[in-house]
Amino acid sequence: MAADVIEAATVTPAPNSRRVYVKSFGCQMNVYDSNRMVDMLAPEGFVEVSQPDNADLIILNTCHIREQASEKIFSELGKMRVIKDARAKAGDHTSIAVAGCVAQAEGQEILRRQSAVDLVIGPQAYHRLPDLLKQSALKQRGIVDTEFPAEDKFHQLKDPSAEKVRARGVTSFVTVQEGCDKFCSFCVVPYTRGAESSRSVSQIVEEVRVLAAAGVREVTLLGQNVNGYHGIGEDGQPRGLADLFRDLACVPGIKRLRYMTSHPNDMDQALIEAHRDLPQLMPFLHLPVQSGSDRILHLMNRKHSASDYLDIIKRVRAARPDIALSSDFIVGFPGETDDDFEATLNLIQTVGFASVFSFKYSARPGTPGVNLPNAVSETVSKARLAKLQSLVEMQRQAFNAAAVGQTMDVLFEKRGRYPGQIGGKTPYLQAVHVEGPISMIGSILPVQIMSQEPNSLVGRLLA
Ligand code: SAH
Ligand code: SF4
Ligand code: F3S
Repeated sequence: MAADVIEAATVTPAPNSRRVYVKSFGCQMNVYDSNRMVDMLAPEGFVEVSQPDNADLIILNTCHIREQASEKIFSELGKMRVIKDARAKAGDHTSIAVAGCVAQAEGQEILRRQSAVDLVIGPQAYHRLPDLLKQSALKQRGIVDTEFPAEDKFHQLKDPSAEKVRARGVTSFVTVQEGCDKFCSFCVVPYTRGAESSRSVSQIVEEVRVLAAAGVREVTLLGQNVNGYHGIGEDGQPRGLADLFRDLACVPGIKRLRYMTSHPNDMDQALIEAHRDLPQLMPFLHLPVQSGSDRILHLMNRKHSASDYLDIIKRVRAARPDIALSSDFIVGFPGETDDDFEATLNLIQTVGFASVFSFKYSARPGTPGVNLPNAVSETVSKARLAKLQSLVEMQRQAFNAAAVGQTMDVLFEKRGRYPGQIGGKTPYLQAVHVEGPISMIGSILPVQIMSQEPNSLVGRLLA
């Protein structure tokens, strides 16, 4: 589910406002958090801009998941320092804040490695951003806040303006669950995001209402273990993700619901049945399995076997035969033999995925994985990753090829690559381009799929 760098939507700043530039790395939850930080800062007079050069505040919302992602932040900070120094020469002050999972994991160390940083703020503390900025203006030294505060951050957040929601588009992320208690032996998330917690049903429904009223048509519910959602309902009783979907399906204007990322062990029957019964719940499931070898799954502390996974897939397909499946894989985990890797390829062959994210194992400080023997060499990991990626690419192309000739409902989200074109998504999350007016953005319309390009489909509006 790793998203790359995503630049946020902007509105034009008034002449006397302060400018904030936010850059998100890592997963969709960081994109959501970045938007919420911007919303927190709006009442303080901050307006979001799309370039850092003239910003009064630069926020890097960071990812710690793999070494490369984490180290990238320090080169990025080097570039931001150049901007800060250039502005200082012209008499303007730039504050630099590091937020997200690197902030949580490295804390004070960030200030040591890059003295231009003013503020280090963890994912559970960003609602304090306005206060911390004021404190930082009074101090010479950088400030670090990586607490897991007792107060509920979500209660402190501010709703975005309707104008801001519209600028962000017709699809939106909403965090419903955060943190992880699973402790897979390779993963930093339980340490950076903390223990699992779920927002209440009413808080989520209210947030989705605000979004829908401003034109959002599709909501993707986010959580590190989103299908482990267990928020409190109106009656004080815990509710699962399937219940939450039923409530959200009733919000006027919401046409499509999606969710990510799920854990196989939390894939309950109610959620599987929601895929059968709820037309708003899109036929797409991202369910990371990581490996097809039981021995490796055990070393990874996944607490499920390959056949458990295949059994879930069978039940999901029985409920919703056309569902598109997606997963995450790690190759080169310590101790992974050729046979283990073959088992992974076999699982991929058996399932047939519409899309896959795959990674070379990266040993992360503080996780149990770093103490495991039998590291796999870089050469072997690289070769395995290439082999896995060529298999899943064939599956992805075959999945897209099967769409050609079909008629699909497409939610139009944005302008296309060329003038006169608009772009959207099929229920199966495939990108589609058609010739059509931008007034169609926000509508769901039947499209005949005419052909396939490497990363998208080309269609024709039927209406
Ligand atoms: N359940 C989480 C997983 C987050 S990490 C979620 O919300 O998606 C996303 C993916 O990164 C994981 O599924 C895993 O495949 C990969 N990953 C995590 N730690 C890794 C590591 N140390 N090395 C390589 N890949 C890793
Ligand atoms: Fe990480 Fe595993 Fe938790 Fe996913 S389930 S966030 S991979 S520890
Ligand atoms: Fe990265 Fe943190 Fe998301 S480590 S993947 S930004 S939860």
